[in-house]
Parts: sequence; structure tokens; C-alpha cells
Amino acid sequence: MNEKKVMLSGIQPSGDLHLGNYLGAIKNWAARAEEFDCYYFMADMHTITVRQTPADLRRRTLEQLAQYIACGLDPEQNTLFIQSHVPQHAELGWVLNCYTMFGELSRMTQFKDKSAKHKDNINGGLFTYPALMAADILLYQPDFVPVGEDQKQHVELTRNIVQRFNGIYGDVFKMPEPYIPKAGARVMGLTTPDSKMSKSIPEGCVFLMEKPEDIQRKFKRAVTDSDTENPIRYDPANKPGVANLMNIYSAVTGKSFEAIESEFAGQGYGKFKPAVGDAVVETLRPIREEAARILADKAYLESVYKASAEKASYVAGKTLRKVYKKIGFVSR
Ligand code: TRP
Repeated sequence: MNEKKVMLSGIQPSGDLHLGNYLGAIKNWAARAEEFDCYYFMADMHTITVRQTPADLRRRTLEQLAQYIACGLDPEQNTLFIQSHVPQHAELGWVLNCYTMFGELSRMTQFKDKSAKHKDNINGGLFTYPALMAADILLYQPDFVPVGEDQKQHVELTRNIVQRFNGIYGDVFKMPEPYIPKAGARVMGLTTPDSKMSKSIPEGCVFLMEKPEDIQRKFKRAVTDSDTENPIRYDPANKPGVANLMNIYSAVTGKSFEAIESEFAGQGYGKFKPAVGDAVVETLRPIREEAARILADKAYLESVYKASAEKASYVAGKTLRKVYKKIGFVSR
């Protein structure tokens, strides 16, 4: 019997992965496979709540898978699958739509934000998306769902759905917990050190697949301050740009803040910023090269996502059959 606790998370392939995703999350995932039975999926069905360019969606979905593997997520130890390859997501999604209230969905802040942003396309999927997300989660009966702050409300809604559903039909779904990882650097934008690194501000965002010279250029242009007295010291409240660079440098080299301060004692940003850039370039180089190699090996990539979808579908099928039976559908 499998004694490991189950962990599941989904990531929308709606943008390219960046240094914040890597240092804040993905880097720590590889180690989890020892302790947990991990499922990570590319949430392609969720991305179409907003219009996508088909060729880009296809490319990004495969790139994301290749990048996860290159970042150290071993597909033998983690189930890395594509959401649309496992039909049970859509099937349970429909069922859970019928156990999710209009009022609950109306309170979701992500719906409010996204419908304000895409006024010309406030579609039904955008509104009912949290019911599909609940299905994504509950199909695998996970103990933990690692998510960012912005997704906590959806996990809370999932918990309400579990309570409602189990209240009627008995213990069908396991109650999932949101999981906020303890490790992981919070990486801020290089040009906006007071907000998270984000693909929507590309000049301050370092993408995993970016060319070394572009990465260097972004670090050279990183926002710091006009301190010339003792510039390289860790003081997040007064020197957020420098603190962010020190954080990044520490995360990629393993050096402590004190060690970094003494390494750059008496030197200015002209020395420090390119040094951080170099360290990041060297950290990302093997990931970029490995991802490119994997992406070129279409047969390998296909073997990974096919085997994963099969495994995921086996687990999801068990849950779905139980649900269908409970609600009164004739078994196939
Ligand atoms: N909604 C998540 C996001 O936008 C992605 C997601 C979809 C997800 N299904 C999930 C995350 C299930 C965790 C579990 O980032």
C-alpha cells in the first residue's frame, strides 16, 4: 500500500517560466518526491478562459513540461501530466458545477479581477473555473495543495464543496489543505523591487530560457539606490532593490548575507550587479540547455506525458466512478 501523502498542483501554461517561479517554487519541488506522491499538471483547460493563440498554447505546454524536467522534477518520481489528456477533469468539473453556488463563485476575487481585465470576454468558463479547479484537486484525493496566495480562496472554496458533497453522500472526498512551502526565496521584479517578479513587467523579469546576454543586461539595469557609503548591505526596508539582488545571489550561490556583504565590501553596484547576473546565468545555463535538449526529443516528451496521463487517469477514474455511483448515474 502506498503510505505517502499526496500532493497536487496545477500551473497554467499561459506564460513562460521565470526566475521567480524557479527560486520561489520549482527548485524546491524536486526534493518533495521523497516524502510525497506528487502530481503536477499543465492546466491547459484553465488557460482558455482567456483567449489564447493555439500555436502558442501548444508550444508553452510542452515547453513547460520540458522545463520542469530540466529543473530536476524526475518524471519517474512525479506524475507530470497535461490536464486535457485526463478526461475525468472535465467530467467531475461538470458534476461539481452543480454543487457550487452562484454566490460563492461571485465572491472569487480572481473572477472579479479577470472580468475587469477582459471586459469583452466574460465567459461562463471564467466564472465557473473554481469548480473545475476543485475537480482537478479532488480527483486525486490529495492531502496538500501547494498554491500561491492568489489561489488560496479557490482551495477554500474546494473545501466548502467537499463539506457540502460529503455532507450529502458520505465520505467521498478527502479534505485537502492548502500548503504554503516554508523554503523558497520571494523574488521581486528587478525594476520594481516592491512587487513580485512577474512576466507582465518583462524588463524586470528573467525568463528561464532567456539568453545570457539578455539576462546580464537586465541585471545591469536592476533598480538599486544612490547609496555610495556602504551600498551592499541587507536592509530590505530602506534598500529593497539591493535586498532583492542579495536574495537572488544568496539563493543561487548558497552564500549568506554576511558573506555577500564582506565579498563586496568597499565595492559599488557596478561590480555587484554583473556578479549577480553571472551567478544567475550560470545557474540557469544547465537548465536552459537541458530543457532545449528535452524539447527537441519529441518522442521522449511524448512518452512522459502519455505515461503520466495514463497513471493520472487511473487514479482519477477511481474517484469519478465513486462519485457517479453516489449521485445515481447508471454504471457503464
Ligand atoms: N488556478 C491555478 C492558477 O491559476 C492553476 C490550477 C488549476 C491549480 N487547477 C489547480 C492549482 C489545482 C492547484 C490545484 O494558478
